[in-house]
Amino acid sequence: MPRILTGDTPTSAGLHLGHYVGSLENRLALQESYDCYFLIANVHAFTTMAEKPAEIRANTIAIVKDWLAVGLDPERSTFVLQSEIPAIAELTFLLAMLIPFNKVMRNPTLKTEIEAKGLGETYPFGFPMYAVGQCADILAFRPDLVPVGEDQEAHIELCRDVAMKFNQLYCHVNNRTLEADHVKAGGVFPIPRAKVGRVGRLVGLDGKNKMSKSLGNAIFLYDTEKDVEKKVSKIVTERPTTTSPLPEGNPLAQYIDVFLPSERAEEIKASYAGGKEVLDGHIKKEVAAAINTLLAPMRERRAKLDGPAGEEHVLNVIKQSINRANAVAEETLWMTKRAMGLGFVERRVGV
Ligand code: TRP
Repeated sequence: MPRILTGDTPTSAGLHLGHYVGSLENRLALQESYDCYFLIANVHAFTTMAEKPAEIRANTIAIVKDWLAVGLDPERSTFVLQSEIPAIAELTFLLAMLIPFNKVMRNPTLKTEIEAKGLGETYPFGFPMYAVGQCADILAFRPDLVPVGEDQEAHIELCRDVAMKFNQLYCHVNNRTLEADHVKAGGVFPIPRAKVGRVGRLVGLDGKNKMSKSLGNAIFLYDTEKDVEKKVSKIVTERPTTTSPLPEGNPLAQYIDVFLPSERAEEIKASYAGGKEVLDGHIKKEVAAAINTLLAPMRERRAKLDGPAGEEHVLNVIKQSINRANAVAEETLWMTKRAMGLGFVERRVGV
């Protein structure tokens, strides 16, 4: 089976609908036909919140609970806790030699993050280094595909560049070799491709920004039915009359598209566009009901993971996955070191 790697950074707890339609839904589908590795980038969380280790730990547990509640299956897929995979840290150092410093510092995803999080000139050395670390996260598992949101594409591009460079420099892969043929030609790394989800960017309830916990414009996967109804009912549609069109870019317009069956969505959009009398309140109720139908099974599974027994279960899931994850990452590291003339002593990592 072809391989997939993707992951989340535990800088906050509680996934929302933007995560679901942008990425989790994609993972669920891919889980059926790919060998999947889902990474919790808990070391990366220290790049912006090193002074809050307890929070990072709690967020880590919460994210695994969320994954389980959504339906990611640790029997079928491998959950990877970044801090327990030594090969990732070692690959980070080795790959850093093949990535121009200025290219990292020009990375648009990092720049956006520095602005959005107000990091100014105060961020640690480790912050830009996480872009190199992310290349190692990915390449350690030699995946074919990396399902991510639009905001991550610059990182995947960096990762593709370093994989090609490595294969050319150390594995005699020709610079005219097609991407798809790198491994056949002797390369250690397949050149991974990004796969963006059905919805690259879900607008938040405010209609201005991407849905985000810190902006207070999110519907969380574990909001109650009542909360979902309330939140959706408060969307401002800015229609002067009940026959005015629904402005494009309005959250209600996107949610109709994303959460209602396509036929029904077309019908509603046609009514809005055709100047028919449409009551927003009715449409909002319909959208909220669709969201609640989607969320009901997740809420139920998530509730079962509350409390110390849930936490115990999560720790077991993580432990069970570690040997599987390390087996692959160690194999990659050994291949990498041999290609670089560093194949001195083969080792074993495991619990
Ligand atoms: N940087 C990603 C995010 O914040 C998380 C992440 C870390 C990741 N390592 C990864 C995603 C490797 C995909 C592949 O969303």
